[in-house]
Amino acid sequence: MRISVIGCGYLGAVHAACMAKLGHEVVGIDVDEGKIRSLSAAHAPFFEPGLDELLRDVQETGRLSFTTDMSAAAGCAVHFICVGTPQKKGENGADLRYVDAAVEALLPHTRPGDIVVGKSTVPVGTAARLAGILVQSEPSAHLVWNPEFLREGHAIKDTLSPDRLVYGVADGSEDHVAVSVLDEVYANALSAGTPRLITDQPTAELVKTAANSFLATKISFINAMAELCEASGADVTRLADAIGMDDRIGRKFLNAGIGFGGGCLPKDIRAFMARAGELGADQALTFLREVDSINMRRRTRVVELTRELCGGSLLGQNITVLGAAFKPESDDVRDSPALSIAAQLQLQGAVVTVTDPKALENASRRFPELQYEPDLETAMAGADTLLLLTEWQQYKELDPFEVSSGVTGLRILDGRNVLDAAKWRAAGWQYRGLGRP
Ligand code: UGA
Repeated sequence: MRISVIGCGYLGAVHAACMAKLGHEVVGIDVDEGKIRSLSAAHAPFFEPGLDELLRDVQETGRLSFTTDMSAAAGCAVHFICVGTPQKKGENGADLRYVDAAVEALLPHTRPGDIVVGKSTVPVGTAARLAGILVQSEPSAHLVWNPEFLREGHAIKDTLSPDRLVYGVADGSEDHVAVSVLDEVYANALSAGTPRLITDQPTAELVKTAANSFLATKISFINAMAELCEASGADVTRLADAIGMDDRIGRKFLNAGIGFGGGCLPKDIRAFMARAGELGADQALTFLREVDSINMRRRTRVVELTRELCGGSLLGQNITVLGAAFKPESDDVRDSPALSIAAQLQLQGAVVTVTDPKALENASRRFPELQYEPDLETAMAGADTLLLLTEWQQYKELDPFEVSSGVTGLRILDGRNVLDAAKWRAAGWQYRGLGRP
């Protein structure tokens, strides 16, 4: 099929490359010339494992191209809208200007029968509004909402083998003409047994925000338990292991630590609350305010614990922060709890050095006042205290005996509860986890 993908960020670039991998002829379109130049040279403008290789493979086939020219969408049967929906400045709601601009720019290039497929995370009701705009310009075109559930760091696998496909169509019916077209787009995953659900548009939009809200709630639940564990001397990691053995609960997303960040969960729960307010259903989501505040409390807690570890004052303490990305296998620092903690410590008088295998360029753009060191050993040299804040594999594998020789103080705060506390203590370290004795 001929497909256009509008918006080539984390979502769109991966989607475009994966659609081409599946055999479709794809054009990726973005207003950012730098991004398009980089993608055209088979180089992802952000770090995502396997993406550079995939871009190279598919570009060799001639099935994938990138451009800033929207007219390249003409002649494509399916147009995916993959632009960002960030949080509005100074407000909780989602900023829809990129979605609106993408659809407006696409309209002159749609043809009768085209399918426009929204993948961006949007407030419920957006699809119906956009569908109205679309049919005014092209009465026989269709708008489908097809939310994306990919995780950064696993984006290619999640796109090629999703755990479910959701198509939100105007009448919510299996017989809707867009269903068979999308089935053709996703033929590979469907034949491998991926379940597909046909819903109406508002349900499809809500599936995405509900899923992310549930994940955020799960993380904040276990972080609330961590607070109780800290107050009572219990161990939240063992608690999570034990409750997670109940199938109905499950162990995934029960890792207590410094909390969730990134470009999705924090802004999605806030936009969801804002939308519920507009719909007069704000009471239904007041719990998400608590989820958000438990999450933000983790950052303050880490600063306090670090102060305790440093003997009561942060002034002049050399602190090395291991990890800047919001999670491992990503260079994304949007709302990264690790960076926000590093900046707080610096503001409170500590001398902070941040290291990360991939995210330092993005981090230094966001927080230029922090000191960055790409080499792990150099970053740790002379540190009074280490903070492990993003659980990259190389940090999890650190050997406490080897690390001892380079640092000044044997103090470590494990913000992700991934180190073997007994091993670090046996090597002479003062170890603190979160929600662990
Ligand atoms: C999230 C969802 O998991 C995806 O399904 C969704 O498609 C995506 O948002 C999106 O809306 O586009 P992502 O932001 O890539 O994906 O990251 P997650 O893997 O969900 O992690 C989010 C944050 O939660 C990270 O900061 C991570 O460190 C933290 N986390 C995760 C915990 O603190 N504890 C856990 O147990 C799990």
